[in-house]
Amino acid sequence: MRLNSANINVMVKACRKASKNLIRDFGEVEQLQVSQKGPGDFVTASDKKVEKILIEELQKARPGYSILSEEIGEINNDNPFRWIIDPIDGTSNFLHGIPHFAISIGLEHNKEIIAGIIYDPIKDEMFTAEKGNGAYLNNHRLRVSSRSKLKECIVFTGGPKINSKNKEQSLKEYEKFSSTVMIPIRKLGSAALDIAYVAAGRCDGYWQRNLKYWDIAAGIILVKEAGGFVSDFNGSEKFVENETILVTNSRINKEMIEILNN
Ligand code: 2AM
Ligand code: CA
Repeated sequence: MRLNSANINVMVKACRKASKNLIRDFGEVEQLQVSQKGPGDFVTASDKKVEKILIEELQKARPGYSILSEEIGEINNDNPFRWIIDPIDGTSNFLHGIPHFAISIGLEHNKEIIAGIIYDPIKDEMFTAEKGNGAYLNNHRLRVSSRSKLKECIVFTGGPKINSKNKEQSLKEYEKFSSTVMIPIRKLGSAALDIAYVAAGRCDGYWQRNLKYWDIAAGIILVKEAGGFVSDFNGSEKFVENETILVTNSRINKEMIEILNN
């Protein structure tokens, strides 16, 4: 057992409250799959509702903090603390009735992520981390995997979208990794959970292009606190600006960078 800090408690409470709606709406989506209209508009509304609940809860507990959230954008309060929110990460899974999506909230202080939560409401898996205090899944401490031979690893990726400007590059990268690893590459459809799974040692390495800050904010601290690496495809810290992210255990980082650059 560990003691949660006040900020983690705020994030946990917001996630628990919003996820009640999310779970109920997911049940509805499963019904809507077979209807003529389909669940598209309903999911958009659900996404916005979850975001509204999260923001209300976070603002109630921390009135002065700034916010960056996928749907509403920026609320700038000129405060060094800022919440980075993705209300539903894995929206396409949600839309199709696939039970693999998450709420993701990161907390920044002076532009550095200092805490994060990724909550999978269907599996009731809550990944949390705070700078200097380790990463946890529910109450269990997390550690990245110790596999050192990429060939024996399980790696994840996501994308590319149909209109991606880097589509060819993404497919080439996929080709290179699929010729390296023995277990076929996984694409589970939620960037936040992909990264949380690296922190949990379930996945050894993950790379993806074209992600936004809210897709990865919470994951960054989870992986760092679990002993893993987060960088762009060149190994630099500029993964947000460059929109390329590589997340690995502490052993296969170099090998993955080499493949991405050859
Ligand atoms: P979303 O569900 O919040 O849209 C799918 O590969 C994962 O990547 C999802 O987590 C999805 O987030 C995210 N994603 C966001 N923008 C993307 C993009 N332009 N291309 C591919 N994936 C993207
Ligand atoms: Ca997302």
